[in-house]
Amino acid sequence: MKKLLSSILTIVIALSVIFAATGCSQRSETNGENGTKAKITIGIVQIVEHPSLNTIRESIIKELEANGYKDGENIAIDYQNAQNDQSNLKTISQKFVRNNYDLIIAIATPSAQSVINETDDIPVIFSACTDPIGAGLVQSLEKPGANVTGTSDKVSAEMIMNLADKLTPGIKNIGALYNAGEANSVSVINDLKNYAAQKGLNVVEATVTSTADVSQAVSSLTGKVDAIFTPIDNTVASAMPVLADAALEAKLPVYVGADSMVKDGGFATYGINYEILGQETAKMAIEVLGGKNPGDIPVKQMTDMDIYINENTASKLGITIPEDILTDAILLK
Ligand code: TRP
Repeated sequence: MKKLLSSILTIVIALSVIFAATGCSQRSETNGENGTKAKITIGIVQIVEHPSLNTIRESIIKELEANGYKDGENIAIDYQNAQNDQSNLKTISQKFVRNNYDLIIAIATPSAQSVINETDDIPVIFSACTDPIGAGLVQSLEKPGANVTGTSDKVSAEMIMNLADKLTPGIKNIGALYNAGEANSVSVINDLKNYAAQKGLNVVEATVTSTADVSQAVSSLTGKVDAIFTPIDNTVASAMPVLADAALEAKLPVYVGADSMVKDGGFATYGINYEILGQETAKMAIEVLGGKNPGDIPVKQMTDMDIYINENTASKLGITIPEDILTDAILLK
């Protein structure tokens, strides 16, 4: 009898130990005192505030929400903006890694480069990186490998220049305005140089390192070029109003890499839809949250392009848009 009692006691003790242990592991999944289920933590880092990047971020958050991932409910988003400063980028990336977030979304190339420098294991989804291979983010678009994948917003310098040739024929000298420190821009400028070499055109470069340099860069091109080409450059995009004014003064059409730069006074582009790019970025994040390995998800490139033209800029420059282009184009003011 004594033996039976002692074995019952042993079982009871053992069970309570197991129970306590399970309870403990449950507690570690909660957010502390209130006992709610732990949220999935997502860090979002954006290099700078400009309309295109804001559109992307808003679209990502909206798409996550549409799929049941709502900030403040089952996910916690820590959004940080680096104000176009490399050292801020590093601080933010290090903080995200230190906090051991479940996922990091990096908007634009400089953000992605900074984040992948800090972690080899937290899943990283980059968004709107023009040339992920050239920027050293992945080694292959089809099979990125490691902890990184994302979306690319690559545009074609050739398509934009063919459009330029129809809108403002006779361009011989093209001013290339960009930040040479942005891998995303260098990639498109290299394509522009190839295009120019094939067509026997001349490229005159004007590089900037900050938004403050843009007005001076336009002055350096004035009188030497027939048009300005600026790629999907975060520095230039942040100074679009200055560029638009300076170019109008110099009577130069500005061909740009993104719709938002047309909206901000640039003349025209053949570009992608950034709202869709944001949705695609969120879809990848959702796959990864569902357990998929980022390295197994191919980098997504946007294939649908549209012509965007700023009507006000056209009329201020005295440019008449040919009928066939007008019917295809998305007109902005
Ligand atoms: N493609 C840019 C990069 O790789 C980011 C970007 C997205 C951007 N949309 C833009 C830059 C519009 C300038 C304008 O960093």
